[in-house]
Amino acid sequence: MSATSGYAVREAGVVVIGSGLAGLVTALNLARNAGRAGPVVLLTKTEELPGGSSLHAQGGIAAAIGPGDDAALHAADTVAAGAGFVDPAIAGLLTREGARWVRELIGEGMPFDRDTHGAVCLGREAAHGMARIVHAGGDATGRTLVTALARRLRESGAVRVETNAFATDLVLGGGRVRGVMAHHPEGWVLHRTSRVVLATGGIGAAFARTTNPAEATGDGLALAARAGAHLADLEFVQFHPTALAVDRDPAPLLTEALRGAGATLLDGRGRRFMAAEHPLAELAPRDIVARAIGRRVAAGEAVFLDLRPALAAKPGGFPTVLALCAAHGLRPFEEPVPVAPAAHYHMGGVVTDAAGRTSVEGLWACGEVACTGVHGANRLASNSLLEALVFGARVAEDLAKAPAVAAAPFALPEPPRVAGRSAMPLVDAMAAEARRVLYEGAGLVRSGAGLRAARARLDRIGVMLEGLGTAPAVSHHDVRRWGEARNRALVGRLLLHAALGREESRGAHFRSDWPAENPAARRHTITLNDLSAPVTALAVAGDPASGDAACSIL
Ligand code: SIN
Repeated sequence: MSATSGYAVREAGVVVIGSGLAGLVTALNLARNAGRAGPVVLLTKTEELPGGSSLHAQGGIAAAIGPGDDAALHAADTVAAGAGFVDPAIAGLLTREGARWVRELIGEGMPFDRDTHGAVCLGREAAHGMARIVHAGGDATGRTLVTALARRLRESGAVRVETNAFATDLVLGGGRVRGVMAHHPEGWVLHRTSRVVLATGGIGAAFARTTNPAEATGDGLALAARAGAHLADLEFVQFHPTALAVDRDPAPLLTEALRGAGATLLDGRGRRFMAAEHPLAELAPRDIVARAIGRRVAAGEAVFLDLRPALAAKPGGFPTVLALCAAHGLRPFEEPVPVAPAAHYHMGGVVTDAAGRTSVEGLWACGEVACTGVHGANRLASNSLLEALVFGARVAEDLAKAPAVAAAPFALPEPPRVAGRSAMPLVDAMAAEARRVLYEGAGLVRSGAGLRAARARLDRIGVMLEGLGTAPAVSHHDVRRWGEARNRALVGRLLLHAALGREESRGAHFRSDWPAENPAARRHTITLNDLSAPVTALAVAGDPASGDAACSIL
């Protein structure tokens, strides 16, 4: 480590940002190829490894491993759920390689749930043509998986894990990635590297009501946007139909596997209503179930999930759900529990190719932050952990082939400026307001007028937050508070811009003023420059051709 005015400089071969499944898989596969990609550093803003949404994933991993199943059938279901916007080649790749990775995990002894004959149990979820979801610990699949992988990573000793590291900016120079600026409890650190992997998860916590943990503030998407990366499908946000309707942030998830095992949805008068909405009833695609519930909730009617058929069919299968119900004084063995939709998963993200490469040289992305084109306008249930497994491994494989670029000497950038201590109450108030505005303006049912009003409000909030960045960092906690608020506002603005541009209804994007699908509509790619009120860069770029290029923090 060397020190310069305002921050320390540390060298790395590859920096992986994120501690959920995608980050762990990338880092583990890099570790397996020890040495080929150079020293690997994993940065996470959480206090411990693992972190992120994967830890809370109740639903399992979809994989075509059962008798009579086939990767092509799984790919066809993925394409059908995605409402015309799934890239079929990527869906084929996901389901083929995914089945292989899940078999490998089984072979390595990952404790997936088994039946009395010792066979891995396969569950059914919405819009899947057959039972193909593997679970672990009942409804604790994500936790079981990432806990085991994090242990392996620590034991490998091959990756330097830095927790409590909040990456604020990518450092660019000479037209490519040159590093990551991150704030650590001991101060700013420039992690100098020519290769960065974003595995930072989604944007759920940019919405007021979400199933995602508080850390899902869209940091990776914001970092990539400020670096000029191409972003796609940002308007497509999946709302999970059945989060507990209780006043808690995040909203406790009631896994779709419950409906797969027979749980039914009931209206305020105790009647089932999904059969009238879709032939697959409770197992209709997630956007249809979410809107059917959302319409009733918006009209002031309570909606309930009757868990009893599922609890009887799979005794011991839902320990997480039962603990969540108990924590809120609910008695699911005795009566249905209240549910309402909540923001759950972002189909859009940083555009990548099949190797996870983004449009910015030296920047890769995988997991929820990436947009490979595999989810289209509506993700198929339990395809997200699968995506993290497949594309985390692909990114690592690509990195092992991509040599590090020799660090051309460059003038170090100025340390970033952040919001000062006295501005923190304002920062918190604006962050809360931004979440409310996005949830109301870009929720389950959108309209041009609502989207425009939300965008005007978020533009103002975003510009105000940027404008507060004038002070040197005081405390790690405050840097993270300001950085997350700023990222939330930026991803919200980008999402609203994309949603306004999509004048049709498709998959998870429903517009009351454009209720029909437009068969001629295409996917949209945008960059930061498409925002009318652009975000301020923190420093100016030097001449990349001089070999002594100043870096810009973007
Ligand atoms: C769930 O358990 O319902 C969530 C799984 C997923 O989002 O795929």
